Amino acid sequence: MYLLKKVCVTRDKITIVGAGNVGATAAYTAANKELGDIVLLDIVKGLAAGKALDIAEAGPIRLYDCDIVGTTDWQETADSNLVIITSGLPRKPGMSRDDLLAKNVRIIKEVAEKTAKYSPDSVIIVVSNPLDAMVYAAYKVTGFAKNRVVGMAGALDSARFSYFLARELGVSVENIKCVLLGGHGDDMVPLPRYTCVSGIPVTELLSEEKIAELIERTRKGGSEVVNLLGYSAYYAPAAGAVEMAEAVLKDKKPVLSCCAYCDREYGVGGYFVGVPAVLGKNGVERIIELSLTELEWAEFNKSLAHVKELVQKVDELL
Ligand code: LAC
Repeated sequence: MYLLKKVCVTRDKITIVGAGNVGATAAYTAANKELGDIVLLDIVKGLAAGKALDIAEAGPIRLYDCDIVGTTDWQETADSNLVIITSGLPRKPGMSRDDLLAKNVRIIKEVAEKTAKYSPDSVIIVVSNPLDAMVYAAYKVTGFAKNRVVGMAGALDSARFSYFLARELGVSVENIKCVLLGGHGDDMVPLPRYTCVSGIPVTELLSEEKIAELIERTRKGGSEVVNLLGYSAYYAPAAGAVEMAEAVLKDKKPVLSCCAYCDREYGVGGYFVGVPAVLGKNGVERIIELSLTELEWAEFNKSLAHVKELVQKVDELL
């Protein structure tokens, strides 16, 4: 007779708030990477529980062993190391991300309050739109240190730009590394000067016109999917959130473009905006300041001005 001894493992605990397309896909992706035990939470009864059970039942095929539960009860999220916030209304065709602000700020307020109460030591990754403003709202409401609240936008926008570049060049997506600045809107600032294909600046490989065309497609990348699908993208956004979660939970310290609090950095003056940052167990561990050309500064400042307008609206609503 074999005696099975119970082995005590301490796995990270990840809460994903919102069991819609982004939340559920993030849960499935995180499970496939065995990033930790996952609590999927949604206010709609049965939604998170059903999706979590379905994801758990894929475990024996996909070979992941983490616990995955779905709930409406915040108590089950207690003491999470990491909280991914995906709640809020998604875009429909014809809507901009900004059109979601008034409704989503109320949702984020409630979710952030609960997160601070139940997981006071967590790192928060916000995915909800309009992204830069919702990260700010989560930061204000939780009162967390600035490094422990971060937004997912650059990972997604970089992935889109990388995909378009890889297809254009006929090279592996793995070879492309890029940097983006600014808000997660149509005025985001992909930086071709800092975008490389296995170390070769992309500016050496493609014409200015072609790069400009791919930048424009990246800027409109969210709308391109919304217009095809009738609602927001979710595979790539969820992949972006999980890429950041992995960086934090495994303390990997990759440089990723993400929506981070900047004060003196880039002369921002106390706003969350897209910048290259080192992500590790403390969340945003360092912001990397790049030298910019006059044109890049102008584009960045234009995008930042837009973020500031949205933040002002958030302040009025909070
Ligand atoms: C997008 C949404 C998630 O860019 O903002 O697809």
